[in-house]
Formats: sequence, C-alpha cells, structure tokens
Amino acid sequence: MTGCQIVGGKKDAHRIPGINLQLSDQEIFKFGAMNATILEVPGHTLGAIAYFFESEEALFTGDTLFSLGCGRLFEGTAEQMFSSLNKIKSLPPKTQIYCGHEYTEKNCRFALSLDPESQKLKDFHKRILARREENRPTLPAILADELRLNPFLNCDLQQFKERRRLRDQF
Ligand SMILES: [Fe+2]
Repeated sequence: MTGCQIVGGKKDAHRIPGINLQLSDQEIFKFGAMNATILEVPGHTLGAIAYFFESEEALFTGDTLFSLGCGRLFEGTAEQMFSSLNKIKSLPPKTQIYCGHEYTEKNCRFALSLDPESQKLKDFHKRILARREENRPTLPAILADELRLNPFLNCDLQQFKERRRLRDQF
C-alpha cells in the first residue's frame, strides 16, 4: 500500500479503481499550497478533466490539448472537443500548457501540411527541432503560441477555412 490519494474526474470514477477524490467542473482541487480549478474537457475521453493553476499560470491538459494538436477522438464527439478547446482558449494567453505527450514536432509537421506557406509555423518548427536535437522538451507550451499556430484552435476562423478549403462544419 502506498497510501497515495487517487484523484480523477467524477465522470470517470466508475473506471478508476481505488479513486478517493472525484472532481467536477469548476471545483477547486487543493494540491499542497496550490489551488487548481477543474475544467471538464470531454473529447479524447468522455470524463477528461484539466487542472488550471491560476496563480502559477499553468494548465495540465492531459490528452485534450497538445502543442500544435489535440487528442484523438476516442470517446467524445468533434462538437464536444470543440467546446472543450474553446474553454481552454478563454484562459489567459500567457498560460503555460503542460500536456500529456511530447508530440509537438509531429504535430508541427501536420500543421505545416495544412499551411505550408506560414512563416510563423516554419519559424516555430525550426525552434522545436533545435530543442529536440538537444534532447530537450518543447513543453510547456504557451497558450498565446497555440492561439496563433495550433490548427485545432483556429478551425472555426473563416480565414482558416478558406485558406485550407475546409468544409463549414462549425
Ligand atoms: Fe495519452
């Protein structure tokens, strides 16, 4: 027995063995001296939650938002993911994004495939390649960069859709 506390989203409680703290949207989770506001962010999974440490300007997104990408829709719908990403978009732009995987380089290549002429993306790609070559993480990301560069945070913009000839889904 480790005696550790097992914390998770209330909506996932039925499938988290031993869970002893269940968290719901907008609840405050006390972690040591820090407080996290819980955001329910369904999409990748239905019970996904993110932890927003407002004073520390840090958001732990799990597999909902990655740098330049978002989680695969395993359980939720595109509409649910879209509204979860909108919740994240409304946070302060200087928020640091601690996501669940180091997928940035691969995601950047996908973003460039949608927008091969984007100088901003090309510059970002150079920066993250340099970091990875030194075996350093690209994370945490900064929300302001994601708002500019992450295709999944811009998919509702008319300009984005026109440039990529996407269907009007949102
Ligand atoms: Fe994962």
